[in-house]
Amino acid sequence: MGLYEDVERVLISEAELKARVAELGAQINALYSDEDRPLLVCVLKGAFIFLADLVRHLRIRHEIDFMEISSYGKGTASSGVVRILLDLEQNIEGRHVLVVEDIVDSGRTLDYITRNLRTRGPASLRVCTLLSKPARREIDIPLDFVGFEVPNEFVAGYGLDFAEEYRNLPFIGVLKASVMAGL
Ligand code: IMP
Ligand code: MG
Repeated sequence: MGLYEDVERVLISEAELKARVAELGAQINALYSDEDRPLLVCVLKGAFIFLADLVRHLRIRHEIDFMEISSYGKGTASSGVVRILLDLEQNIEGRHVLVVEDIVDSGRTLDYITRNLRTRGPASLRVCTLLSKPARREIDIPLDFVGFEVPNEFVAGYGLDFAEEYRNLPFIGVLKASVMAGL
């Protein structure tokens, strides 16, 4: 079908994603205890598939919550303007918070999120991102867990979109130039 014909190449396969998400789950199990009862904050919409797969590897007690931040609209470059579209339901004061992101690109979104959450007095604040694109970083943010580093290319799939589509692809891929140009 058309969606798959738009893919130039697969960057990270379904099997690679599966194996790495299991490893990240094991690392999170090792870091926190049941007593910590961390709150996993899923940054919508891109991290929804990652979070869903990640929590199925968790053995520690935890809770999940959601946050949505405005970002690129239909483009592929950050405007730098960030605002909260959906805020947490939970009060995070005194809680161990783990932000779950899809990708850290310029770092602007995560910088905004972590600064905002820190003002709410969490007991700890860590970040788990599936992907990191270090070549594009403008703001250096410590990342506690990184699934994969990716080259300086726009990627889609496994929750990540291009113009709100392709989130359903079970792999991380690069789209054809004609698609990216909107032809
Ligand atoms: P940053 O603020 O520049 O770090 O961008 C972070 C957000 O932009 C991510 O949470 C994604 O939603 C989106 N983003 C950045 N790079 C890509 C990409 O290659 N594919 C899809 N979305 C991306
Ligand atoms: Mg995102």
